[in-house]
Amino acid sequence: ERPLRVALLGCGTVGAEVAKLLTHSADDLEQRIGRRVELAGIAVRRLNRERPGIDPALLTTDALELVQRPDIDLVVEVIGGIEPARTLILTALERGAAVVTANKALLAEDGATLFAAAEAAGTDLYFEAAVAGAIPIIRPLRESLVGDEITSVMGIVNGTTNFILDRMHTEGVGFSETLTLAQELGYAEADPTADVEGFDAAAKAAILASLAFHSRVRAEDVHREGITEVTRADVATAEAMDSVIKLLAICTLTDDPEPRVSIRVHPAMIPSSHPLASVGGAYNAVFVESRSAGRLMFYGPGAGGSPTASAVMGDLVTVARNRVRGAAGPGESSYAQRQVAPIGDV
Ligand code: HSE
Repeated sequence: ERPLRVALLGCGTVGAEVAKLLTHSADDLEQRIGRRVELAGIAVRRLNRERPGIDPALLTTDALELVQRPDIDLVVEVIGGIEPARTLILTALERGAAVVTANKALLAEDGATLFAAAEAAGTDLYFEAAVAGAIPIIRPLRESLVGDEITSVMGIVNGTTNFILDRMHTEGVGFSETLTLAQELGYAEADPTADVEGFDAAAKAAILASLAFHSRVRAEDVHREGITEVTRADVATAEAMDSVIKLLAICTLTDDPEPRVSIRVHPAMIPSSHPLASVGGAYNAVFVESRSAGRLMFYGPGAGGSPTASAVMGDLVTVARNRVRGAAGPGESSYAQRQVAPIGDV
């Protein structure tokens, strides 16, 4: 049997890690999947960059040609941003390839189009890496808890801002020097405005709320406030009250007059005794409350190349297994059951 062929779109912090894991773990992955998986091409913006450990023969700047290749079974998109990622993913899905993406901005802006394309082609669209890095949170909401009734999802879903706020508390340092360090450690987005202004957390909150509440939430439905206005004086005030400042994403179901989804992202002061207060560095944590299960907490590394690559690899093995079995994973037919409350309404 011929191997399953993978096209990798993007070779930044996460992509380079995925490429290495695909190559170094090829034998183990073959055992787990039941078929060999082969990295067939990597789309990059520039060919002449130093990429230690990456076979230059795999590189191409023509991403569209790569996803159109009929021998490509699985596409991993880690470019980020709306275009060209949307066109590339749609092209891949429409010709029946399975897609694994870490692209929260795109899912939060136009997930509906992507899910419809995957459904129409009977193929897979998996996105565990889009929210909270290595933490399994998409699959629990999409599969494990889908028979339960979730009432709220709340947590810290941006590693960069958590890292910055954490250091403002522990080191008493200012905002910009810490941001530079977060960028060096590979936590921040290519444009860190997305992190510090709360766009990244808002996109993740939209994805989580969509899954938790069987709704169709877009980033623009999220009330959003970043951390750029948080001062050292705010940090000191919080500490004087035995509290810490965290950027929280809060997704709830309101009951009045009928169930509606409300989503917001903003800095919040929480008591030091609260479990979220001790989430340090680039770690993330998500609380889920549901009628039958009660309270669940998901916690772990929320950003960085290696943790995010772990989530991508998990999806890749899953969609490869589905392909070997000739079946697709869960679709999104339950979406759009619940209304989203307008910003400022709740
Ligand atoms: N920039 C993001 C963060 C990366 O800091 O959480 C993970 O999505």
